Amino acid sequence: YTPNQSSLIDLYEKAAELFSHVLLNTKLGENALSYLKQRGLSEKEIKDFNIGFAAPEQDLLLSFFKEHKIDDKTMAESGLFIETSEHELRDRFFNRIIFPIKDSNGKIVAFSGRSLVKDPNHPKYLNSPETSIFNKGKVLYNFFQARSEIIQSKTVILYEGFMDVIAAHRANVKNGIATMGTSLTEDHINAINRVADRVIICFDGDEPGQRAIARAIELFRNDSNLQISVVFIPDNLDPDEFVKQRGVESFQSLMKQTGESSTSFLLKYDRMGLNLANENDQLEYLKKALARIGGLKDALEQDLYLNQLSDEFGIDKGDLKDQLRESVADRL
Ligand code: GTP
Ligand code: MN
Ligand code: MN
Ligand code: MN
Ligand code: MN
Repeated sequence: YTPNQSSLIDLYEKAAELFSHVLLNTKLGENALSYLKQRGLSEKEIKDFNIGFAAPEQDLLLSFFKEHKIDDKTMAESGLFIETSEHELRDRFFNRIIFPIKDSNGKIVAFSGRSLVKDPNHPKYLNSPETSIFNKGKVLYNFFQARSEIIQSKTVILYEGFMDVIAAHRANVKNGIATMGTSLTEDHINAINRVADRVIICFDGDEPGQRAIARAIELFRNDSNLQISVVFIPDNLDPDEFVKQRGVESFQSLMKQTGESSTSFLLKYDRMGLNLANENDQLEYLKKALARIGGLKDALEQDLYLNQLSDEFGIDKGDLKDQLRESVADRL
């Protein structure tokens, strides 16, 4: 770190301490604390994940830093303040639960704040902006904390959000990280590829989550040699909601099934919205499926899924193979 970056890190450390203190020990934090407890978090988890609260009273952080004689330049660079047109600093976060985001060395480099109010004019999560030490496309939430579990298991579990990582942790599944909503980048994939052999994609079970799973599979296939599987969360739930509604044991058994292969997920994804009792839909699905299978590099894997298709639709496997060759030839 440059001296400049070190000053930022020191400032973030102090900010995290203030946010945590407000949440756990003050009247200002009472509502936020009961919100978190209602969502299933214990005080230990709140401390373990360094969660805090930015009070609705504005500019608490600003006065705190002024008291501590932090210089204006570092404050302005930190991204924790907004500059008014009169060039005055105001707190960026207020009335938000604060999640510190750490880099791969365990240093806090950014914050994300979850709004306590449902209001279409305010984003649900607000991140501090990118700085010389925070690049959204590089950082993965909980990567530093999960590192030893990842290395031991050789496996990374990838979630969408903060609360998913924390809920899984409650179920004693500790090798989880999150992209924090941003789409997966090559840098994320490289970071995962360096420490693991296998990735389990465990995104939200809603429609956007499913689309994101399909996209993530393609990216992991293109940019890594990781073994990819998918644990699909049923009933439109996300992992956090699943743990809350069904309990930690149900989540553990979901995770214990080795997950489904990426191809099997993609084939299921291809048939969503189709009615396979209808012949036109059947044909549409078969074409999509053959294109998927044709794209597989492993001949054995191709054979496995061709067998499945042949069984399911009662079509001769030799015919499917001919079709497969044609559809591959069409794409060349
Ligand atoms: P909770 O409602 O607190 O459980 O959040 P969630 O994680 O279920 O949210 P969702 O599935 O909608 O989004 C997944 C992740 O994307 C979140 O954890 C955030 O990191 C990120 N995200 C969601 N909404 C926003 C937003 O409005 N702005 C930004 N910058 N990020 C968001
Ligand atoms: Mn959302
Ligand atoms: Mn989501
Ligand atoms: Mn979610
Ligand atoms: Mn959620």
